Amino acid sequence: MDLHIDLASSPGRSLRARLEHCLREGIRSGQLAADTRLPSTRELCRQLGVSRGVVFDAYAQLTAEGYLHTRGGGGTIVAPAVGDAERSAAPAARSSAIRYDMSPFTPALGGFPRRALATALTRVLRDVPDQGLGLPDPAGTAQLRHALAAYLGRVRGVRTDAEQIVITTSLRHGLGLVWRALAARGVRRVAVEQPGWPGTRDTALRAGLEPVPIAVDEQGLIVERLDDVAAVAVAPAHQYPTGAVLSPERRRALLDWARYAGALVIEDDYDAEYRYDHQPVGSLQGMDPAHVVYGGSTSKTLAPGLRLGWIVLPEPLLGSVLADQGTHGTIPSPIVQLAFADLIERGELDRHLRRQRRRYRSQRAALLAELAGRLPSLPVRGAAAGLYVVLDLPPGADEAAIVKAARRRGLVIEARGAGRPALVLGYGALSIDAIKPAVVELAACLAGPRRS
Ligand SMILES: Cc1ncc(COP(=O)(O)O)c(C=O)c1O
Repeated sequence: MDLHIDLASSPGRSLRARLEHCLREGIRSGQLAADTRLPSTRELCRQLGVSRGVVFDAYAQLTAEGYLHTRGGGGTIVAPAVGDAERSAAPAARSSAIRYDMSPFTPALGGFPRRALATALTRVLRDVPDQGLGLPDPAGTAQLRHALAAYLGRVRGVRTDAEQIVITTSLRHGLGLVWRALAARGVRRVAVEQPGWPGTRDTALRAGLEPVPIAVDEQGLIVERLDDVAAVAVAPAHQYPTGAVLSPERRRALLDWARYAGALVIEDDYDAEYRYDHQPVGSLQGMDPAHVVYGGSTSKTLAPGLRLGWIVLPEPLLGSVLADQGTHGTIPSPIVQLAFADLIERGELDRHLRRQRRRYRSQRAALLAELAGRLPSLPVRGAAAGLYVVLDLPPGADEAAIVKAARRRGLVIEARGAGRPALVLGYGALSIDAIKPAVVELAACLAGPRRS
């Protein structure tokens, strides 16, 4: 590697002192970033036209001062500054401290279909015309919208054509677009599930709306509590964090309410592909496309890092959402969109989901067996769906303290956050082998606060 070193204008009597000065200042100023590999002594003495001993001594001095370190066989490296070292050690320490990831939000990223996506990307890059690499249509590429219209119709009973679909980066992004479109029409109050996924409430607040919490029980949203709101966001296929599935009676009541009130239902279908006991119930949107906005993403099915989602909109909202999308410009890369369309069209997404479903079904069964064995007095709730179960805690238990204690032991779990105390335990990212020790850890956390 080439290094910019100006020995002539550096202070210092000897060549060695000048070289040390240049390197020291380069490191202090950040021009030479931490982990930068310096040239070998042989190479640098050739570049500078000085003897090898000069370079050797300068490297030795700066190593002694802590500016450089040597990596066995890997040459001389710029050491992190003290502040940097602390900063970079902290995330490493945090992540290495995570021994069992039971986050309900993390899918099995190890199962990501890397090879299938690489093949799809290769195909896209070979076939895409040059114009396809220009700025994308704010609605998303026509290929992906067509592929999704067919896929969502087949798998989720969604009734749509490609023109009603807008491609987003995530469900959160889609919700923001819908809330802003409603706010622009003068809507002020919207209903959200309580407890619910915090992203729903946060996106509504950011759009200037007032989120009105509506309670959820084991049949899902308590529809009769909906009052004077223009829209409600629900996750009918699998509610977070209760794990409830909206009952058939409530589904009907919700759509009756929407029709009667002239209101809109926003259907968050975020993990509906994962149902382990029977076929998932179809979407609400398929029952009444005029009153339901449908949203989904690849965050749970493929990976949150793919940044791909979609919303299906009734005609009246389409124009303002597209205008908003056009100005905000958060449009996923057309190359990624085309590759995802290819995965759908070639049946790769279906194959991947079949594999993932098998994996999650057995991880869920193993978790339930461990919980029954080690914590038999605590009831487990939640449909056989998605990526988590809910573990009820004894009345009066301090959810937040337990979640904190678990973090200290390297176990990531979530609190239910409202209603009776309960923990949300994900099994998506936990391998079968890790389930038993994770539950042992969990049992120890639950025993801890009660003893103290
Ligand atoms: C109910 C619900 N909807 C949506 C999401 C996130 O979706 P996205 O990553 O696509 O924004 C989550 C959580 O991860 C969730 O729990």
